[in-house]
Amino acid sequence: MAASTSTILRALASLLLGTVVSDAMAEGRVPEYATEVAPIVSRACGECHRAGGVAPFALETADDLARRAKTIARVVRDGTMPPWFAAPPASPAHRFSNDASLSEGEKSALLAWLESEARPIGDLSKAPPPRGPAPEWRIDTPDAVFELPEAVAVKASGTMPYINVRVKTGFTEDRWVRAWEVAPTARDVVHHVLVFAVPPGARGAADEARGFFAAYVPGGGMRQYDDSRAKRLPKGSDLLFQLHYTPNGKATSDRTRIGLVFADAAPKHEVRTAGIFDPKLDIAPGAASHREGAAITVPADARLLSWMPHMHLRGKSFRAYRESNGVRETMLEVPRYDFNWQLSYDYAQPPVVPRGTVLGIEAVFDNSSANPANPDPAARVRWGQQSTDEMLIGYIEYELVEGGAAIGEGARARLRDRASQFAFLDEDGDGAIERGEGGELVARAFDAADADGDGRVTRAEFDALAARRSRRTPPP
Ligand code: HEC
Repeated sequence: MAASTSTILRALASLLLGTVVSDAMAEGRVPEYATEVAPIVSRACGECHRAGGVAPFALETADDLARRAKTIARVVRDGTMPPWFAAPPASPAHRFSNDASLSEGEKSALLAWLESEARPIGDLSKAPPPRGPAPEWRIDTPDAVFELPEAVAVKASGTMPYINVRVKTGFTEDRWVRAWEVAPTARDVVHHVLVFAVPPGARGAADEARGFFAAYVPGGGMRQYDDSRAKRLPKGSDLLFQLHYTPNGKATSDRTRIGLVFADAAPKHEVRTAGIFDPKLDIAPGAASHREGAAITVPADARLLSWMPHMHLRGKSFRAYRESNGVRETMLEVPRYDFNWQLSYDYAQPPVVPRGTVLGIEAVFDNSSANPANPDPAARVRWGQQSTDEMLIGYIEYELVEGGAAIGEGARARLRDRASQFAFLDEDGDGAIERGEGGELVARAFDAADADGDGRVTRAEFDALAARRSRRTPPP
């Protein structure tokens, strides 16, 4: 079929103006709501901006748009809506399946309609049907739902420590979870929820740097894998909910729950979550562009499914990369990190990262007064749980490549090697771990490890604790 006139006009206009324009603009008319604007809004905004959705108002009719035309034009122009913070991928191989961003053509069509006098409607029977109220679950109907045994009271102001609640599953067999959703009931005060699967008999070790089973963060909170993938929930596991609330001026209560959809049989690929993290970060007062980074060497051939950057209020930008044979390639670039949206970036075609590849993250923090989110530019900032402390974690979801290079003996030995674990935590290298060293990783276990209570964990005390723990917890 020959290219339509509008396609040719559009190509010409792109050439002349150096921009991408919509059909309507190429033809010199204002786009119509029904066939040219509504499809964009339905795709890019509809999931959240509907009754019962996460956004505060619906955008389902031409009236909904017209009423807020000015604000919508602003957020579309600024690129703050839809929430999507990744730069366009450097190579098509690194496209994300959940990329919500508007193309330049979509942006210009939406803006042209919002800013026109007439705002033509067109034939509404050709518009996409309204999505209607959000369903109770975004995933398929769960096979099992676990909720907090009682509601958590969230106070009106101040900060709240993390709350850990352990819920029994009572599963007598391993379950394969092909979809999960973590659903708070008071979303406006929930900063995040991490759900860990704690093996039977193990003590609750909610260590967010190590990876989690499921999570709720603004802009996330669910995952539905394709048919070949699922996460394993080992039999007898408890679900440990780690909840972080940020009071917002009004006392309320929350009773978060998790919904799980099971696969009938073991999947082709087991999905796992891990974190690449930098617990030693240390940001000077007032520093405007403080850099931190961390990297791991991939111990076995793996396929990378997603990245999820995690920083707090001083996070400014984030980059994830892979490096092999001295060649570094950017995998995810987030030029303008926004603490309010902890998005996961899911690969459309998950790339294979062979054993020996370095996977790394780099981030810039802004601890200056020019950062409007900065709670205290005068503070020296280190790793910690509260939003006023910092973190740098690049969570990855991955699966092992079938028949690929398995985890090598060398890497296995390093993971087991107490001397290198100890050296990692003993930040100042004085032969003992003092309180505060090793950040969050150590804080919770410090008293248990410091057997003689002298405020220092020696190598012997460290080994003794590790031996006690390894009797209780099977190796990963
Ligand atoms: C992932 C869910 C999500 C998507 C997709 C989304 N929004 Fe939003 N939107 C929100 C939430 C939540 C808020 C309220 C919090 C905020 O302003 O950040 C919001 C706020 C807004 C606001 C008010 C901003 C202000 O400053 O008052 C506008 C306007 C808006 N969205 C327009 C859009 C448009 C247009 C689209 C699609 C092109 C879109 N949104 C897509 C969740 C979403």
